[in-house]
Amino acid sequence: MIYPETDTISNIELSDDDIEFIDRIVEEIGRGEESVIPILQAIQDRYRYLPEPILKRVCEITDITPSQIIGVSTFYTQFRHRPVGKHIINVCHGTACHVKGSVSIQDAFCRQLRLSENIDTDPEGIFTIQKVACLGCCTLAPVVQIDGITYGHLTPDTVPKVLDDFLSSSYKLSHKSELDDGLIISEGEEKGEIRLGLGSCCIAKGSDKVRSELIKSVQKHKIRAKIKRVGCVGICHQTPLVEVVMPNKRSYLYAKVTPEDVESIVLRHFKPKGVFRKIANITSKIIDKALTDESWEPITRYSISVRDPHVSAFLEKQKHIATEYAGSISPTDLDEYLENGGFIALKKCLTELN
Ligand code: FES
Ligand code: FES
Repeated sequence: MIYPETDTISNIELSDDDIEFIDRIVEEIGRGEESVIPILQAIQDRYRYLPEPILKRVCEITDITPSQIIGVSTFYTQFRHRPVGKHIINVCHGTACHVKGSVSIQDAFCRQLRLSENIDTDPEGIFTIQKVACLGCCTLAPVVQIDGITYGHLTPDTVPKVLDDFLSSSYKLSHKSELDDGLIISEGEEKGEIRLGLGSCCIAKGSDKVRSELIKSVQKHKIRAKIKRVGCVGICHQTPLVEVVMPNKRSYLYAKVTPEDVESIVLRHFKPKGVFRKIANITSKIIDKALTDESWEPITRYSISVRDPHVSAFLEKQKHIATEYAGSISPTDLDEYLENGGFIALKKCLTELN
């Protein structure tokens, strides 16, 4: 097979495990040409690139030809033909990031990783760099993502710090389990809901760390609140956003929340038992002071209101169509989606229209 960039790849020999894997995925996915993409995806999921001997085996046991594999795997940029480093650096070259200097950011990473022209993986095999289109958090441009962790507002000078931060970060992907859907911390009747924006901008600005603090705080004080992830609220430049919704439906929106703010916010709205109640009163007073300050900055630091002219001027012009209820329901909670009229059109098509 004439395969792109084959220099080191063809030396790999197939083990029994490899053969068992390929035979199994072909059995599950199919042998026809329509199976090319899912087979390549399955191979890349396992090996993180497309080793040539594996592709040869696919051609041997299916109706798929080498030219079909080459055609598809070179057309779609998701497929890689070379081994990749342990971590992938996605440098956004979307319009906003381009305008804000993504080319110089890419150059800075290449310099820092000692990558020569046309080489995308560092000599130690730790990082592979690639260009990607918009990562969906343009307010932070220029942006890079390393294994799903987003770094924004970069300059060439901050690139070494980004790599250091990533390598020394205690952030682990196992941490992701905490990003699951609605979580009721203690048993009993819910006393409110704490909504946390976990859209791309929110995550990029650290809302997952805010969520960790929320969970810790609510657990520590045995507060009966549901912590719920919600999608983009539409004010991405004010992220991370936390909204507290009380049983009487009154809601309080907090912008630019940091992990350090979390305890104060929680204790302001939920009453813990014993000594913590006193702390709640103290922190509540501090926040009240911020709320009555007339300047914009202290208010954005804590609570904002959708009726505030700064906020309403921005939000009122937005009409959410596909993202209706973004900010109030969990994007992956089907029950909640159904409760809010989800799939009504589909139901109508299936039951009322011929
Ligand atoms: S253009 Fe880079 S995040 Fe949108
Ligand atoms: S992504 Fe969080 S408000 Fe838009």
